Amino acid sequence: MIHGVVNSSSKRLLFLGNIFSQFLICDKMSLTTQSAFRVPLHCKARQSPYTGSKVKRFPVPEDMVPWSVEWPDYNPTTFTTEHVLSKPVWADPDISKNSKNKLKFNEIDGKVNRRSHMGKYKLQDSLPLNHAADPIVTRWKRTANNEKVKHSDGKDILQFVAIKRKDSGLWAIPGGMVDAGDTISATLKREFGEEAMNSLEATGKEKKAIEKEVAKLFRHGIEVYRGYVDDPRNTDNSWMETVAVNFHDDTGNSVGKFKLYAGDDAADVHWTDIGADLNLYASHISFIEKVATRLEAHW
Ligand code: BGC
Repeated sequence: MIHGVVNSSSKRLLFLGNIFSQFLICDKMSLTTQSAFRVPLHCKARQSPYTGSKVKRFPVPEDMVPWSVEWPDYNPTTFTTEHVLSKPVWADPDISKNSKNKLKFNEIDGKVNRRSHMGKYKLQDSLPLNHAADPIVTRWKRTANNEKVKHSDGKDILQFVAIKRKDSGLWAIPGGMVDAGDTISATLKREFGEEAMNSLEATGKEKKAIEKEVAKLFRHGIEVYRGYVDDPRNTDNSWMETVAVNFHDDTGNSVGKFKLYAGDDAADVHWTDIGADLNLYASHISFIEKVATRLEAHW
C-alpha cells in the first residue's frame, strides 16, 4: 500500500546533512563497475511524463540533482495520481494550502511511520516518504542431480524469486508497502505470501501450511539495504524508501522446494538467475547485486 504517492507543493525539500551526496549518477556502467552497494539517485524518478499520466515532470538535469545545489528557479509540477485522488483508504489526506489537515513528519503519525531510514528530513510543505519492504528469497541453481551449476567465471549461480509486476510489466522483488501500524517483518512475510505463493487464493488448510513454511524461512534474514528507492512513481515531494532482506536457502531443501504461484499485484513469478544483465523495477538491481556479492555468487 502507498500512503499517497503525490506531489503537493512547488517548494523544494531539503534533507539535513546532504545524505544523498553518496549516490551515483544515472549510468548503468557506473552501477556495475564502480564500488558496489550504491543506489542510483533519481534516474527512474526523473522519467517524464509521470507514471500513468501525460503530465510532464519539471526537468532536473544531472548536476542539479543534489539538494545541496542552490537552484532558485526550481519549480516542479504539482502532481497527484488519479488513483490517489480517488481517495483509497491508504492515501494521505489532502494537506494543500487551503486544507486544515496536518501531517507529522519525522515521527510516528497515528499509525503511519513518517521517519526516514536515512536521517531526519527538513521540509517545507510536502508529502514525503512511503515505506516499503522487499524480501529477496534466494537459492543456488542446481542440476537435476542436485549439483550446483557454475558459471563460466567459476562462480556458482544464484537464483531469486522474482515477480512480474502488473503495473509496469517489469520483473521485480516481490515487495510491498508497509501498512499503517505494520512492522517491516510482517510486510516482508505478507507480500511474499501474497505475491509469490498466492496465499490470498489459497483455502484454509493450504493457507496455514503456506504461512507456516514462510514463517520458518523468514525467521533468519540478513538485511542488505535500507533507504531511498529510485521508484518511477516518486515525485519531487514524495518518495519511497525500503528495507531489503535476504532469506537464503543454502541447501535448497526449504524455499527451493516451494511451488510458486503468482498472486495479488504479480502477473507471474519464477526463480530467476542472478546476473548484472537483469533489467528490474526501480533500483531493485542494486539490492540483488549486494546479495550476489555477499554470497560470492556469479554477478
Ligand atoms: C514495491 C517494492 C518497491 C517499492 C519502492 C513497492 O510498490 O512493491 O518492491 O521496493 O515499491 O520501489
